[in-house]
Amino acid sequence: MKVTVVGAGAVGASCAEYIAIKDFASEVVLIDIKENYAEGKAMDLMQTASLNGFDTKIIGSTNDYSKTAGSDIAVITSGIPRKPGMTREELIGINAGIVKMVSENLIKYSPDVILIIVSNPMDAMTYLAHKATGLPKNRIIGMGGALDSARFKYRLSEAIGCPASDVDGMVIGGHSDKGMVPLTRLATRNSVRASEFIDEDRLAQVAADTKVGGATLTGMLGTSAWYAPGAAVSALVQAIACDQKKMFPCSALLEGEYGLNDLTIGVPVILGKNGIEKIVEIDLNEDEKALLAESAKGVSATNVLLSGLDLF
Ligand code: 2OP
Repeated sequence: MKVTVVGAGAVGASCAEYIAIKDFASEVVLIDIKENYAEGKAMDLMQTASLNGFDTKIIGSTNDYSKTAGSDIAVITSGIPRKPGMTREELIGINAGIVKMVSENLIKYSPDVILIIVSNPMDAMTYLAHKATGLPKNRIIGMGGALDSARFKYRLSEAIGCPASDVDGMVIGGHSDKGMVPLTRLATRNSVRASEFIDEDRLAQVAADTKVGGATLTGMLGTSAWYAPGAAVSALVQAIACDQKKMFPCSALLEGEYGLNDLTIGVPVILGKNGIEKIVEIDLNEDEKALLAESAKGVSATNVLLSGLDLF
């Protein structure tokens, strides 16, 4: 199993590290445009192999996509991260051209690859990858909901006063501060509704804190977070690489599902060896449907900005 991670910055390197530690891939290629940067990160990570007990081989490359040839899965983290006070959507002018070029370079050497998009604004970058590559829709996955759901579970566990492993919850919709839809009604503590443990006001605060989870950390760190994003995308890679048939909220191209068409937005999907093996249409109530529809409007508006950049 060969995995490429494009972008050896904090998110990409964290993703490569988690993939290596889970030891399900034979090779991880870390690629970056900065001279020797990916090679250095790969060497540093390989020097943890005897300590962390993995056999995965991590190699680094300075922009030589021939090294990525034959990749089964490729993760795109390249582009600039946001600074405090910025929205993810403000990155589109710079990141769109990068994501298009990277996607085209990847499929040139790995025509059967499954792409996972992390670069922001993620939903629009995922849509761009569809337009730029023409890959089958099951082989392009946007990572946002898995991260947002992890933040939702963190806030739920904090509010309830229990371990994060005791709660479950999912965030659908756009990966944006305003567009996320934390499904508070369906959140549980070990199959018991979360509303049995915390009141509606506290649940609403959990949802509000979840939606700005990324911005909160960007304000604290001065740049985008990387540990949870890296961990979230490594979980998607593992689900595909190991054919786990796990369900995650991922940005997927919708063609009528949830009443939405021609956009990529976070919905529950089953991930396995073929990438998106099924889009799961869950039974949303009227409020949740309205929130998803509103979120879709925001994603579509960002996609309109894409078309103005003359990239496809
Ligand atoms: C985040 O929310 C980078 O969009 C990612 O942290």
